[in-house]
Amino acid sequence: MRAVVCRDLGEPETLVIEDHDPRPLGPGQVRLRVRACGVNYVDALFVQGRYQIKPPLPFVPGSEVAGEVVEVGSEVANFGEDSWAVGDRAFASVGLGGYSSEVTVAASSLVRVPDALSDAQAATMGQSYATAWFALTRRTQLQADEWVVALGAAGGVGLAVIDVARALGARVLAAASDDDKVQLCIQRGAHSVVNYGTQPDPSAFKDAVREATGGGADVVVDTVGGVLAEAGLRSLKEFGRLVVVGFATGTIPSLPANQVLLRNRTVVGVDWGAWAMGHGAENAVVMAEVMALAAEGKIKPVEPSSRPLAEAPAVLRELLERQVVGKVCLVP
Ligand SMILES: NC(=O)c1ccc[n+]([C@@H]2O[C@H](COP(=O)([O-])OP(=O)(O)OC[C@H]3O[C@@H](n4cnc5c(N)ncnc54)[C@H](OP(=O)(O)O)[C@@H]3O)[C@@H](O)[C@H]2O)c1
Repeated sequence: MRAVVCRDLGEPETLVIEDHDPRPLGPGQVRLRVRACGVNYVDALFVQGRYQIKPPLPFVPGSEVAGEVVEVGSEVANFGEDSWAVGDRAFASVGLGGYSSEVTVAASSLVRVPDALSDAQAATMGQSYATAWFALTRRTQLQADEWVVALGAAGGVGLAVIDVARALGARVLAAASDDDKVQLCIQRGAHSVVNYGTQPDPSAFKDAVREATGGGADVVVDTVGGVLAEAGLRSLKEFGRLVVVGFATGTIPSLPANQVLLRNRTVVGVDWGAWAMGHGAENAVVMAEVMALAAEGKIKPVEPSSRPLAEAPAVLRELLERQVVGKVCLVP
């Protein structure tokens, strides 16, 4: 098997490609040939040592894969709903290890991939889609006709927020930093857009949201942090919710409590990854729900651009420098 390995924390360029012998399967495990591995901002954080969890070195980055079962271990059910057989398509959240030609995972953690999804689309269903779905249905309950603002809307989570919010019948204002990103959001169904530029003016952003939404947003999903977090909070109408998902700017915001009090607003945190690890059965329901939405055509992930495994460092560099419009996956 071939994998992208992080031997020393640092810039993505320090990653190396290595060939290893395949791992023997344990009881209850399957071997999945990786057809696509989702590339996410969090992968870069792991490699740089900036994520809250610091795995022991060396490790293989990559938290979500889609592929085909090529070997089934002992004690894997061979009948009923939980059965897995060679040739089945599956998605797996693997935590780490995804930038690889194959992974060994517990069969119980696999999720069936509907025909409606390509392998590359399927490889976005965890970090991007499960996060967006968990945020908008579990951490807040987005209602039909409410206005939701997606910050960093042309990124992985942002695009999923647009898609999921539309499926829930909400109206979406997509906010991003340049014209290409804004155009993609329009193509993806955003009802309104704001181009906040690479150096956002928080006051102008708040005013633009209030104007576009006719008085203020119901929900702001923040994946960027920095100055836009407070601007997003200030743009909320009465009973509005600021949903804190991430800090792609690298700046964790401090929010003024008076702006939470005013208009009876709420600030809600989202930590899908840690929750999913600790709540396997409930996360299986979340995953089943997003896969069902895809199967029914109610959501349709953007088709990621596919890059070879060896380009992992270049792709992570592009993510860190805000050059990616849409999603990228690695194809071993
Ligand atoms: N809490 C959770 O459960 C959870 C789950 C998944 C992801 N996350 C976090 O959510 C954030 C977004 O993840 P993602 O996968 O959507 O990332 P992504 O695809 O890279 O998108 C992030 C977006 O952030 C914006 N951005 C603003 N300043 C940036 C900067 N200095 N560098 C890079 N991007 C910048 C970019 O849009 P513009 O250029 O348009 O501003 C970019 O499109 C990350 O911090 C990630 O760790 C959290």
